[in-house]
Amino acid sequence: MRRPLIAGNWKMHFTVPEGLEYALRLRREVERYASAVDVVILPPAVMLWEIANALRGCPIEIGAQNAAWEDQGPFTGEISPKMLAGWCHYVLIGHSERRQLFNETDEELNRKLQAALRHRLKVILAVGETLDEYEAGRTAEVITRQLDAAVYGVELESPIDLSIAYEPVWAIGTGRAATPDYANETMGLIRRLLEKSFKRLASEMRILYGGSVTPANARSLMEQSEIDGALVGGASLKAPDFTQIIQATVEVVQSQRV
Ligand code: 13P
Repeated sequence: MRRPLIAGNWKMHFTVPEGLEYALRLRREVERYASAVDVVILPPAVMLWEIANALRGCPIEIGAQNAAWEDQGPFTGEISPKMLAGWCHYVLIGHSERRQLFNETDEELNRKLQAALRHRLKVILAVGETLDEYEAGRTAEVITRQLDAAVYGVELESPIDLSIAYEPVWAIGTGRAATPDYANETMGLIRRLLEKSFKRLASEMRILYGGSVTPANARSLMEQSEIDGALVGGASLKAPDFTQIIQATVEVVQSQRV
């Protein structure tokens, strides 16, 4: 297993004081696992700076849920990667909610990815098929299109600069996670696609699974050869659940070492 990455996507939850209090709680509970696992939280933009300061010196990293493709200009409501640079570690790009509810296109996501990397943000790029596409047996085609388009022309200096989150849309918030076998198979395809674009680095790049990850299924997912971590939504909003997912991941890492 590559060094795992567990990311908590808070989506549009918590007020600023609640988010700050929760981040401090996670700091206390999660810090001890940080030698074995990378832990990232992705709070809403309005509380990012406050939380970044509160977590300074702590191994939990922070990330934005989205960022624009331009550095500045007339883009009302947007946050640029330049504003995040230097203090925010990660940015999530291409979440299915951004694609579906805010109509983000593959081409825009490619521009966002390039802009984020230019500002030395580590990117988690999300891809995944909808229920209709899944049922029509089109998963491979959809993933190939999304991934090839997003990384077109992208050059990486280090494998940790880009992680892919495979999130089948039908598994997000439904309580119906993909089976470990199915997730692993699709993530194997993602690894082969990465080899096309990032020959030398692909074997070290992290691929995360997302979609109804819970303490109950975390271990069986993490045991899969292609699964290097998780992008967690609902369960990342509850400290005991998020902590248990991290703990399960550490146990898998430890069991593979012996
Ligand atoms: P859930 O874990 O709530 O299914 O959400 C997954 C997700 O969308 C993370 O980005």
